[in-house]
Formats: sequence, structure tokens, C-alpha cells
Amino acid sequence: MDKVSIRVNGVVRTFIIDEAEGCVKPSETLVHTLRDRLNLTGTKIGCDHGACGNCTVILNGNPVASCMILTADCDGAEVTTIEGLENQDTGELSILQQAFVDNSAFQCGFCTPGIIMSAKALLDKNPNPTKDDIREALSGNYCRCISHYQVEIAIGDAIGRMKDLRAKGEA
Ligand code: FES
Ligand code: FES
Repeated sequence: MDKVSIRVNGVVRTFIIDEAEGCVKPSETLVHTLRDRLNLTGTKIGCDHGACGNCTVILNGNPVASCMILTADCDGAEVTTIEGLENQDTGELSILQQAFVDNSAFQCGFCTPGIIMSAKALLDKNPNPTKDDIREALSGNYCRCISHYQVEIAIGDAIGRMKDLRAKGEA
């Protein structure tokens, strides 16, 4: 039997890949492993076909649609989900998450974890993105409630807060 080990939000998880009951089937996608086996239900499933971005997580530093990634292909990978952004000891939200709350950057909230993960991946690589950079980074994330305007404001707010922290030497 094959095994895969994936570091999810800093914790290594090992799965056996097999058709047998209780094992991760070779056809199981990462989003189902995260949600159904690790109870990380912050990652949402919209289309389950790579079209909506609701299931976005960060895989080895890049935002990916986790419904399009086979868990069996993730051996040695580093995965961050929306649950991994908050302070793991205190539960305090990250600056980016808090900016979404403070700017009411969602309505139903279903698309929000995926949008935040796409934004997080962008800001990790480019702390000073332009508006076009942000729009490009979020181009695969669909929001049926049309919250995009507030989302851009929230990300701009988070960028400002992070800059302030860096100026104070706290980030
Ligand atoms: S659920 Fe994965 S892209 Fe829509
Ligand atoms: S806030 Fe409802 S889908 Fe985006």
C-alpha cells in the first residue's frame, strides 16, 4: 500500500492510499481529504470541477483549487487552509482575516475562505501589489454575492496594516 504524508497547517498527516475501506482512494481529491478526514471544513466546495475557486488552499506556496488535486499526488507537500491562518495558540485572526471582517468583505461568506487564501498567497509573494495584481490573483475566485468591491477594500486595508507592522519592526 502507498502512503502519503502531507504537512497541513504545520501538522504532518499520513494517509494510506488504497481502494480499501477507510483508506484514501487514489481518486480522492485534496478538498475531500481536508474536509472529510481532517474536518477542515473552512475550505468550501462549490463546483468541484476547478471553476469557482471556493476550494482554494495554498499548496507549496501557490494557490490551488484543491478539488483538482489528487491527495495521492501530495506526498511531501505543505498545505495551508483558512484554518491555518489564525494564531494556532490563541485563535486570533490573521491581519488579512480581520480586515475582511472589519470591512464586511462578504455577504453569504461561501467564497470567502478561497478568496482569502488567494489573497494570502499573493501577499506572501508580493506585499505591495497593485490593484491589477490583486484582481489578477483573484480572477479564479467567483463570488455570487458580488462582494468584490469590499474585498478589494479589505485587502488594501490589510496591506496597510502589514506595512505599519513592518515599519514598527513587528512583522
Ligand atoms: S470547488 Fe474547486 S474550483 Fe469550485
Ligand atoms: S459572499 Fe456569497 S458567494 Fe461570495
